[in-house]
Amino acid sequence: MKSETIVILSNRELDKMRKAGHLAAELLHHLEPMVKPGVSTLALNDEAERWTQAHGAKSAPLGYKGYPKSICTSVNEVICHGIPNAKQILKEGDIINIDVTPIVDGYHGDTSKTFFVGTPSPKAKKLVEVTEECLRRGIAEVKPGARIGDIGAAIQEYAEPQGFSVVRDFVGHGVSNVFHTAPEIPHYGTRGKGKRLRPGMVFTIEPMINEGTWEVEVLGDGWTAVTRDRKLSAQFEHTLAVTENGVEILTLPEGET
Ligand code: MF3
Ligand code: CO
Ligand code: CO
Repeated sequence: MKSETIVILSNRELDKMRKAGHLAAELLHHLEPMVKPGVSTLALNDEAERWTQAHGAKSAPLGYKGYPKSICTSVNEVICHGIPNAKQILKEGDIINIDVTPIVDGYHGDTSKTFFVGTPSPKAKKLVEVTEECLRRGIAEVKPGARIGDIGAAIQEYAEPQGFSVVRDFVGHGVSNVFHTAPEIPHYGTRGKGKRLRPGMVFTIEPMINEGTWEVEVLGDGWTAVTRDRKLSAQFEHTLAVTENGVEILTLPEGET
């Protein structure tokens, strides 16, 4: 675990995070109708980049540690960091996680969802529904005084009894004017363990839930993380702020709470 101190954002900074979060949510919403059989993951990327620029924002992934594209598109057995590609064409029954992070006025809105391409198989549908519920349950733990371990515990307690596994190699993270910072938010863990949450902390929760093993393999491109057994993986992500009373989801469309 990183031992860096966890920053507490000012109200001014939280306002900027809200603007970035709204734009991130609206970008995902904008891309959703494009998710159809026959579309390439590069077409999704290029529309995301165009739309982001048209809204005066920048795509955080582009050039981040050498990442070559503007969004991540993770299909089926890809856990995360799938690189958009002209030759990768979505087909009926696929699942695809689209992960976007626009930067607005220096602050990052980081969110992702897993979408169905056409009609999903029953097992894909179950995995995606369980993963979205994992994110909801993780978020429900967030309030002042709670511990970071409570979040992962809630996710693990829900996913594992249903026969699914929780990815260990990638975690949620602090996010503000820096893309990835302290604290780390594991999606597994023990209640009562880890640092206490305080108002003004901002971080993501982004559970990756697998149909089979939790073990990861990174492909030769240095980015694409796949399940070792090549079974399905799903993910949902929100950026959250700890408030005086509980939690605020920053990556919802304007007007939704
Ligand atoms: N958005 C991803 C996250 O949730 C990070 C992507 S980094 C990239 O943390 F370089 F792969 F884009
Ligand atoms: Co993300
Ligand atoms: Co993230």
